Amino acid sequence: MDKQITNKFYPFPSTKNSFVFSFEGGDGTGKSTQIQLASEYLEKKGFDVLLLREPGGTELGEKIRTLILKSPIKRSAHSNLLLFLASRSQLITEKILPFIQEPGRVVLLDRYIDSSLAYQGVGEDLGIETVLSMHAHPPLHFLPHKTFLLHLDAKQAILRRKGRQEELDQYEIKGREFAEKTLKGYFECQKLFSERIKTIEADKTPEEIFQKIIPHLPS
Ligand code: TYD
Repeated sequence: MDKQITNKFYPFPSTKNSFVFSFEGGDGTGKSTQIQLASEYLEKKGFDVLLLREPGGTELGEKIRTLILKSPIKRSAHSNLLLFLASRSQLITEKILPFIQEPGRVVLLDRYIDSSLAYQGVGEDLGIETVLSMHAHPPLHFLPHKTFLLHLDAKQAILRRKGRQEELDQYEIKGREFAEKTLKGYFECQKLFSERIKTIEADKTPEEIFQKIIPHLPS
């Protein structure tokens, strides 16, 4: 892949001491718990924290979320990608950019661009380069300051998910082979954005995992 494409991306423009962090990983890797722990930690340090999820986080985004994750309407992989991008674009303009204009603020994102790269780029075979190139224009060309990639092998992640007894979404339903493909996608992302993405091994207790995240958070 032409590595030059990564030069078209920029960190979110924020004021001093404000940050955007994203959390990534397959379903069942414990993202929500880590986001909650990070939020409590940062609030104790005096930061204002905004938690946002993808797809979702805005009125439009939540409508798109229901459509993507719950609706049986027939869609191509490319249509899926465009729906995720519409949700992301709205989230950036409506929520993220205005919030980080003030100092001492942190946005914690439950999934962001790397989900599209891993799930649509690799899982749904669109290609990482295609998905990246579709982000190469404002406002989608802004990247989080740091991304925590929670890594668990696909088998373990599926076992954890089974323990939760939740209704499966259209990607979870695809099973182990798809989960393994997306994991490969995440590793590709890590290679491309090695400064931004920190891989955190997630086969420990929530507290042990969070200890590995703390050194990367602002103090
Ligand atoms: P969600 O219930 O938020 O999953 P989780 O709790 O595991 O984070 O559902 C989001 C689903 O959407 C998840 O299966 C990953 C998928 N997804 C993509 O395929 N591409 C994307 O760009 C995003 C943001 C999510």
